[in-house]
Amino acid sequence: MITNVRAITSYDLSGIPTGMTERHEDWRVPINAPHVLIAGASGSGKSTTGRSILARICQLDVVLILLDPKRVEYALFRRRAAEFAVEPSEVVECLLRVDAEMNKRYAEMERASVTSWQHLEKVPLPILIAVEELAEFTPMARDTDAKAVSLLLNRFARLGRGAGIFMLASVQYPEAQTVSSQLRANMGYIICHRVRTKIESDVVFGPGAASLGIDAAALPASPAGLALIRDAHGFVRRVRADYFSEEDIGDIVDRCLHLGKLDLGGSSESG
Ligand SMILES: Nc1ncnc2c1ncn2[C@@H]1O[C@H](COP(=O)(O)OP(=O)(O)O)[C@@H](O)[C@H]1O
Ligand SMILES: [Mg+2]
Repeated sequence: MITNVRAITSYDLSGIPTGMTERHEDWRVPINAPHVLIAGASGSGKSTTGRSILARICQLDVVLILLDPKRVEYALFRRRAAEFAVEPSEVVECLLRVDAEMNKRYAEMERASVTSWQHLEKVPLPILIAVEELAEFTPMARDTDAKAVSLLLNRFARLGRGAGIFMLASVQYPEAQTVSSQLRANMGYIICHRVRTKIESDVVFGPGAASLGIDAAALPASPAGLALIRDAHGFVRRVRADYFSEEDIGDIVDRCLHLGKLDLGGSSESG
C-alpha cells in the first residue's frame, strides 16, 4: 500500500512529485531541466531517489530507457521499459537506436520548420534515459563500448532536449574524470545526497559553497536519504524522496504497462 505519496495530476515534466522539502512542501523535480544528476556517496539514497522519480514517471506516457549496470535497482521497472540494458555492448546498441529516433525527430522538425518536438503535428512521446551508475561509462573508460556510451550520453545531453529526450543519471561523485564537463554543463538540476568531503560538495555547488553553509558533506546520515537541491531561483533546500518499496513499484508497473510504448527496433528483452 502506498500511503506517503501524492497523486500526479498532469503530464507536466517540469515538476515530477518526488518527495518533500524540510518545510514539508512538495518537492518536485523538473525532469526536463533538461537533465537531472543524482550525486552522493554509497548508501546516501541515490537509488531510492531515482526509484521515486521513476515510479512517478512510469505513470505518465513517457518512454523509459533504463541502463542499469548493477542489474538491480532499475530492474524493478524493466517490464515497463522500452529498453533495458546492462552490459556496455548492449547499452551502446540501445543508445544507437535512441540516437536514430532522435535523428528522425530532428529530420521531421526540419521538414515541418519547427524548433521543438512539442510543435510537431503528431507530438512524439518524451523519452527518459535513466542511467543508474554513470561511473561505469566514463570518458576515460578502457573498455571501448563504455567509452562509446559516454560519447552517446554527451550527445543526448547536448541535443536531446529539443527532440524530447531527457536524462536522469546517478553518480557517487561528479568529478571531471567521471562526468565530462560537457555532460556536467547540461545537467541543469542536481540532487546532491550526502558526500564524503566538503571538497566533493563544492564540486557540485561551486567553489566555496561549503564554507558558506551549502555543504552536502554535513548532511546527517539519519533520517536516511536527505539531499540538497538548488531550485530555479537559486535557493538551496533540504529534500527527501518518498520511499517506494519493491512491492509498491511492482503494483505501479502492473498498472502502467500500456504506457510509454515506442518501438525503437530492438528487442526489449535483452537477457
Ligand atoms: N528517501 C528515503 N526514505 C527512506 N529511506 C531511505 C531514503 N533514501 C534512502 N533510504 C534508506 O537508505 C538505504 C540506502 O539508500 P540507497 O538509495 O540504496 O543509496 P545509494 O543508492 O546512494 O547507495 C535504502 O535502502 C533505504 O533503506
Ligand atoms: Mg544505489
